[in-house]
Amino acid sequence: MMLHIPNVLTREQVRQMRAAIDAAGWVDGRATVGAQGALVKHNRQLPEDDPVALEQGRVILQALAANAQFFSAALPARHMPPLFNRYTAGETYGLHVDGAVRRVPGAAPWLRTDVSSTLFLCDPEDYDGGELVVVDTYGTHEVKLPAGDLIVYPSSSLHRVEPVTRGERVCSFFWTQSMVRSDAQRGMLLELDQTIQQLRARLGETDQTVALTGHYHNLLRMWADV
Ligand code: NI
Repeated sequence: MMLHIPNVLTREQVRQMRAAIDAAGWVDGRATVGAQGALVKHNRQLPEDDPVALEQGRVILQALAANAQFFSAALPARHMPPLFNRYTAGETYGLHVDGAVRRVPGAAPWLRTDVSSTLFLCDPEDYDGGELVVVDTYGTHEVKLPAGDLIVYPSSSLHRVEPVTRGERVCSFFWTQSMVRSDAQRGMLLELDQTIQQLRARLGETDQTVALTGHYHNLLRMWADV
């Protein structure tokens, strides 16, 4: 399941975030990948413990905590701190799958990566190439969004970032452990929730929308690990 969530950050929030991160200390992106990723990853990123990255990551997670669409799509239990990356002059990240489990900095337990999110911090006109290409069970999807918009996709998918041939692509990305481990179950819950919202908008609250809302919550109760 993939979902495009527009306007997670306002234009002003993006501008402030870019001013902060552009001035920070960028390093080779291979610092955070395993052996397979290191062969295909060519970009730069902020170190995981960079204070600017940690502070700006908190801004992103705060915005998402208030975002109903993100909650419905990801059903988040825990997040990794958001990372920041930039691609320019032919830089690319070839086809790979993200590691299944990661250590949360400063916390004991491992985090299972169920949901990946990429937040665009530049506009499509700012660069050529650089599409995020996600291969999921429904085919191959190319994603290039306006600054401030977010794409949610399953961490189990193979994905790549096409070479940037002009300008610069700047994004944040992070992983979420979901209360619902299965991408198929999360996708069904998202579609059910969206359908209930559409019915409610068209008909108001009815016995049927209440009954469907009951089914939504009972399925979530059945499938959620909290
Ligand atoms: Ni990846």
